[in-house]
Amino acid sequence: MASDGQKVVLITGCSSGIGLRLAVQLASDPLKRFHVIATMRNLSKKGKLEEAAGATLNKTLHIAQLDVCYDESVTQCLSSIQAGRVDIVVNNAGVGKIGPVESLSIEEMKTIFETNLFGVVRMIKALLPDMKKRQSGHIVVMSSVIGLQGVVFNDVYAASKFAIEGFCESLAVQLLKFNIYVSMIEPGPVNTEFEMKLMEEVSQSEFPGADPVTVQYFKDVYLPASHDIFMTMGQTPDAIAQATMKVISMERPVFRYQTNVLYTPLIAMKYADNTGNLSVRTFYNLLFNHGTMFKISLTLLRIITCNCFRSGEISPN
Ligand SMILES: NC(=O)c1ccc[n+]([C@@H]2O[C@H](COP(=O)([O-])OP(=O)(O)OC[C@H]3O[C@@H](n4cnc5c(N)ncnc54)[C@H](OP(=O)(O)O)[C@@H]3O)[C@@H](O)[C@H]2O)c1
Repeated sequence: MASDGQKVVLITGCSSGIGLRLAVQLASDPLKRFHVIATMRNLSKKGKLEEAAGATLNKTLHIAQLDVCYDESVTQCLSSIQAGRVDIVVNNAGVGKIGPVESLSIEEMKTIFETNLFGVVRMIKALLPDMKKRQSGHIVVMSSVIGLQGVVFNDVYAASKFAIEGFCESLAVQLLKFNIYVSMIEPGPVNTEFEMKLMEEVSQSEFPGADPVTVQYFKDVYLPASHDIFMTMGQTPDAIAQATMKVISMERPVFRYQTNVLYTPLIAMKYADNTGNLSVRTFYNLLFNHGTMFKISLTLLRIITCNCFRSGEISPN
């Protein structure tokens, strides 16, 4: 049971990555400000979280089943919360998708939206009536810089994150009237199982329906570049958890929080030219025309930062 003054925080997708690290960081708060309900769709994966939770398990951290794609799962989880309320929800559960669009079926694309858009919408709809009644609440969404700036061969994933950005940006205005805050956490690449799952998926695909030239660009140009970007600019899940904890702890939480300073110029470029040409052509040139220069820049960046984005030595503040 949450003690007096403790905030009840429900996090989705805690079996691995950012969700797992955030659950552990919040539960380990020295001031014990948080009562964490760390949820996952498949409880057979709870071992890693239990181990990381250590002494906080069943004290400040409680594990529960929740699949964001099913109404019944959400209702059942929320009705089992002993505290009877959720003060902060972190919509972290998400799935990725990369590859030539011609090789992806509409059904496959819908599954991405089922989790990344409708999964979040389902959680928000379930929690809003009570938050509005109590005139208090904080809705946090693990978005991405790809929710602001499209990335080649990430078309469907970007669309799902743009969609949740638009949904939340619209909702945030109404909710302020009820003293409910909405915050989008927007990381760049993060070194979790996320990238590995995508690589595994594409390694098994024959890309049916895509022409050989597109497949060649995807495999020989995009995949190596993407790997280099994760190696150079990828943050640790702990860094993202720390950034999220900072936003959660704000008296008046911000709407947007980008965790990776290296992405600031890329996002600024989008707003610097409202024709969109600057971004589209810069990304095109970087990937297809100046590949060698791009590789050299990443290597230099790796040397300058001593790979500390990977090791988490650079704070996201
Ligand atoms: N890694 C990155 O580069 C990066 C960058 C920006 C934003 N993000 C976002 O950060 C969030 C967390 O990703 P991550 O990097 O930590 O990847 P991850 O390690 O793959 O974690 C994703 C989590 O979401 C869960 N999940 C997927 N579908 C679900 C569903 N229907 N219901 C409940 N949980 C579900 C997964 O559970 P299972 O184990 O059961 O699959 C897993 O626990 C995602 O929203 C992602 O889009 C990631």
